Parts: sequence; structure tokens; C-alpha cells
Amino acid sequence: MLNEKTRIAVFVSGGGTNLQALLDARDAGKLPHGEIVAVISSSRFAYALERAKKAGVPACVVNLKKAGSQAAYEEQLDRVLKEYRAEMIVMAGFFNIVSPDFISRWPRRVLNIHPSLLPSFGGDGFYGLRVHEAALRRGVKLTGATVHFVNEITDGGEILLQKAVEVRPDDTPETLQRRVMEEAEWILLPQAVEQVAAELAAEKEKNP
Ligand code: GRF
Repeated sequence: MLNEKTRIAVFVSGGGTNLQALLDARDAGKLPHGEIVAVISSSRFAYALERAKKAGVPACVVNLKKAGSQAAYEEQLDRVLKEYRAEMIVMAGFFNIVSPDFISRWPRRVLNIHPSLLPSFGGDGFYGLRVHEAALRRGVKLTGATVHFVNEITDGGEILLQKAVEVRPDDTPETLQRRVMEEAEWILLPQAVEQVAAELAAEKEKNP
């Protein structure tokens, strides 16, 4: 039986450029073992929702504040994941936290993209522009991006792929963020997602 594609849910919070990289990879045939079946946004204002709509991918908002508690929030996430029969989760510019209990139900099936060469500039408090501000403050000559499995430690899961990006003397946090996205994040994430999707598809074939 042909390897069925692995069903992927993408978690987003903002602009969705990493989601776009996945959608473009899919359209270019670079995601043969994965199917993006749903986009789940933590915010109704996320432009990532527009990107999903244009790409014909079902999308919904699951909002922590509206849910009223972390437990209720994660119950809603579980419900959507079940509805779309998701088999792996990709956190692509996703800023909410999920509990160790939630993660324990998805061992080696949740990926995250972080905009630095972990473990540098990773962990609690390091997200978005803050990561690049810290890299510039420290004066590193190389930074980059990391795709890792998500475990109960923030940015502490097994590292899958990394790609280095040079830091330029005239960089601002904004110019550095953009170059890390263009030269590292948008290249690494589709590669890592296809790698894990293929592994899970092969597993499914062996134990249907
Ligand atoms: C990116 O810097 C990404 O590394 C981080 O969130 C930022 C925005 O991502 N995780 P996106 O444009 O919403 O994908």
C-alpha cells in the first residue's frame, strides 16, 4: 500500500511566513510525505490565517484567553486535532505555551522552529525579536535557526536541523531577523517536516 501521507496540523500566532514556506514547499512537491490538514491560530488577527485561506487549508482560531484556562485551551486544541485526524504538529511562529501533559501525548511528533542556534539564545523569554536583540548584544558573528522536537523544556527538545547565518556589523534586530528567516528558517522547516513526516509514514506502513 502506498505510504499514506502524514497529516500535519500547523500552529501559528502571527505573520505566518514559516507556514508560507511549508505551503510553498508543498506546492513545489517538496513535502511528498506530508499533508497540511489544518492551521490552528492562537489569534484571530494572525495574517497566517489569510495564508491558509489562500492555500485552501482549513483554519481556525483557538484562543487561550477565550478558553478561560490552560486546561480548557488544550481541550479545544485536542478537539480540533482529533477532528482533522492530525498525526503531527508543527509550531511555526507559535507563541503560546502548551503543558508537559499535552506534549506527553505527542512524543517526537511536535516540531518547533526557533530563530537561533540552540542552545544559544533559547529558553524562557527568548522569542521573536528578543532572540536577535540578545544575539546582537552578545556580539556573536554567527547565528541561525534550529528545528527541534518539542518536549517539556522550552526549546530543550532533541535538535533535528540547524543552519548558520552570518551577523553583519550594521545589523539591527529587524535586519537580522529577516535574514535568519530567509536564509535559515524558511529552508530548514520544510526539510525537517518532510523528514519527520516520512519517518511517521513509514512507521504507519509497518504498523498499520
Ligand atoms: C519567526 O522569527 C520565527 O522564528 C519565530 O516567530 C517569528 C515569526 O514567524 N518562531 P512567522 O512569520 O509567523 O512564521
